[in-house]
Amino acid sequence: MKKHRIAVIAGDGTGPEVINEGLKVLAAASKKFGFEYETVDFDWGGERYLKTKEVLPADAIEQLKKFNAIYLGAIGHPDVKPGILEKGILLKLRFDLEQYINLRPVKLYPGVWTPLKDKGPEDIDYVVVRENNEGLYKGMGEFRNKGTKDEVAIQISYNTRKGVERCIRFAFDYTRKRNKKKKLTLCGKTNVLTYAFDLWERTFYEVAKEYPDIKTDYAHVDATCMWMVKNPEWFDVIVTDNMFGDIITDLAAMTQGGMGIAAGGNINPEGVSMFEPIGGSAPKYTGKNVINPLAAICAMQMMLKHLGQDEAADAVEKAVMTATSGKIKSMSAGKMGMSTKEVGDYIARLI
Ligand code: IPM
Ligand code: MN
Repeated sequence: MKKHRIAVIAGDGTGPEVINEGLKVLAAASKKFGFEYETVDFDWGGERYLKTKEVLPADAIEQLKKFNAIYLGAIGHPDVKPGILEKGILLKLRFDLEQYINLRPVKLYPGVWTPLKDKGPEDIDYVVVRENNEGLYKGMGEFRNKGTKDEVAIQISYNTRKGVERCIRFAFDYTRKRNKKKKLTLCGKTNVLTYAFDLWERTFYEVAKEYPDIKTDYAHVDATCMWMVKNPEWFDVIVTDNMFGDIITDLAAMTQGGMGIAAGGNINPEGVSMFEPIGGSAPKYTGKNVINPLAAICAMQMMLKHLGQDEAADAVEKAVMTATSGKIKSMSAGKMGMSTKEVGDYIARLI
């Protein structure tokens, strides 16, 4: 039987604590469902950067390409200037490994508090497919007359037909496979961003012709934010560009109980994918055994699914649901009614 090789980048702050609980759950799932795996740890992150002045070793990408998946904790350190680690590690891995999809399920689990009044698990259950390699994140632009009163800062949204099309195709395929409402919504801003979203819109409706079984819909990004709050049940799958995807998925995460439970996958369908809890490194909670590991556990669930361990993935999801509807009191750090380690032990036991 195939052995899954998993690269573990626990990272900064509370990253190692939550990853530890996710790995506990992986061990329990492997025992129960009889698959084999091995993990290799990488110490990349803020601490290593402060010590060595190197963000990533030169052969980092080559090393990672040898794995079946990457499990990432969190990147971000209070003593490192914002941007260095984000661009130098997280975005570099996403770009250089061509993880062109950022997949973010938005699912309210039973028992989890949502700020949306009168909405429950049956209303909040959709997935955002965020383009992950282009757009404003490409880093194109320049300063003109920097530091003068005539300064201009230009930041370009870079969208290629190939990049947009592969993302949209992934979203259509995903909507079909998900097999729920079979509805794909393009989230854009065609009324203002008349180059970028003209390309997105044309590509969307061209590709749609190949998926007659999928209903299509379009919403401007500002309206998308309104509907996500007022009528989240309208959504099934949303596809959007990198920047809009970044913003709407934080809003979405809040409606599903917050960063304590929200997970995401950086997917290269033909290569190595990377799974992460989407909250940051939460330095103020580091080492206190209070951070919620469910987001990391849900990222592990996504990884298991991606590796083809469907039974194990389903068991992890079921265990999380049992935990949220029972013993775990809140999704917030320090308010769970259990410690970080206890939550991990509990989920592992449920499996
Ligand atoms: C995310 C994060 C990153 C992003 C940051 C840390 C660079 O906010 O994964 O959504 O903007 O993509
Ligand atoms: Mn973000």
